[in-house]
Amino acid sequence: MSNAMWGGRFAEGPDAVLEAINASIDFDRRFYAQDIAGSKAHVGMLAAAGIVSWDDAAAIEKGLDEVLAEIESGSFTFSKALEDIHMNVESRLADKIGAPAGRLHTARSRNDQVATDFKLFVRDALDGLDGQLLGLQQALVDKALKHAGDVMPGFTHLQSAQPVTFGHHLMAYVEMIGRDRGRVADARKRMNECPLGSAALAGTSFPIDREMTARALGFDRPTANSLDAVSDRDFVLETLSLAAICAGHLSRFAEELVLWSTPQFGFIRLSDRFSTGSSIMPQKRNPDAAELVRGKTGRVVGALVGMLTVMKGLPLAYSKDMQEDKEGLFDALDTLSLSIAATAGMVEDMEPNLSAMRRAAGAGFSTATDLADWLVRVVGMPFRRPITSRAVWSLRRPRPRSRSSGFRSKPCRRSSRASSRRCSRCSASETRSAAA
Ligand code: ARG
Repeated sequence: MSNAMWGGRFAEGPDAVLEAINASIDFDRRFYAQDIAGSKAHVGMLAAAGIVSWDDAAAIEKGLDEVLAEIESGSFTFSKALEDIHMNVESRLADKIGAPAGRLHTARSRNDQVATDFKLFVRDALDGLDGQLLGLQQALVDKALKHAGDVMPGFTHLQSAQPVTFGHHLMAYVEMIGRDRGRVADARKRMNECPLGSAALAGTSFPIDREMTARALGFDRPTANSLDAVSDRDFVLETLSLAAICAGHLSRFAEELVLWSTPQFGFIRLSDRFSTGSSIMPQKRNPDAAELVRGKTGRVVGALVGMLTVMKGLPLAYSKDMQEDKEGLFDALDTLSLSIAATAGMVEDMEPNLSAMRRAAGAGFSTATDLADWLVRVVGMPFRRPITSRAVWSLRRPRPRSRSSGFRSKPCRRSSRASSRRCSRCSASETRSAAA
């Protein structure tokens, strides 16, 4: 049998393989609520513009509410033969209300319909993401405030560099997440234009009111160009990009949690709730959640690369390739949401080992820069001179005083006044060390 919605001219039904490759219902059913909201806004506008009767519009709205209730209660039977969520809903509406259902698709195409539905879905997802990221920031700020004065080593090249505080370190991630939230807000603002009315690609000859549908669905305005509106998916790409950057931030933090929770670092203890054990190595506490937050970043980045590849080289306007915009985004958003929840849980639960951090902060000559700064500020030594770094190095352990050293740990009176001119003893020793 040919497709009931578009198969009028077709003698034969689709091959099973075509049906399998063509159907999106298994995944696009996820935005049934947005599809129904879009249809209700559309039919309300059609009635207000005198394109359909108020009676038909009322029957359609009531029928759509019933379809929504069926889907939400789990009693709706989704059909692969009906390809996607749009045709599944419309076909069920026809079962319920009969002929008036045929008026819903007036002045519309699945092309502007899917773009609208998906934007509504992505907009909701961005709002959810922002709320979750705010929660993570709060968890980090709470921990950071508690440990604002607790010293830990700061690293460059993963070598002890200078002491910092645990609070200072955690607040670095609050900044990163803050910029992630900024990207969410930017993407939301840019995407919030309504494609409805673009129809298949060229708009429609019906006297529709695009401002009205845009307003009803919470969009800032209708899109300006119908070809663009049905065929760009840059709102998907932006969402995937910000998701990939955010996943990258979480991954860096996860990597630190993995390192810090090793016996070798011993800086934190992750809670039992966020660790796993090993049956054959009972001494182990594995930071699985952190490792998976780190590992799952690959899926998010992969979804971005996949979608960039789908869109590259597509001529205007709609092509079915674009149906591939959904699964990657769903997976990326689900993955990111889970990773944020796991990260927030680990942050809330983790217990820093303050003495281990403090001990490590004092090791590895991590105060060398501060000492060098002190020598410059108080003693008046020049910063970019070998004498200063040698001076710092010579203090790394108690050493016998020697007159031949280029450095005297006790500065002479003149140089301690930070004068740029040196006394003769200082200059002599500097000259000696420079020559060495
Ligand atoms: N399921 C389709 C998609 O997700 C809907 C649009 C189909 N349009 C069409 N003319 N075949 O892209």
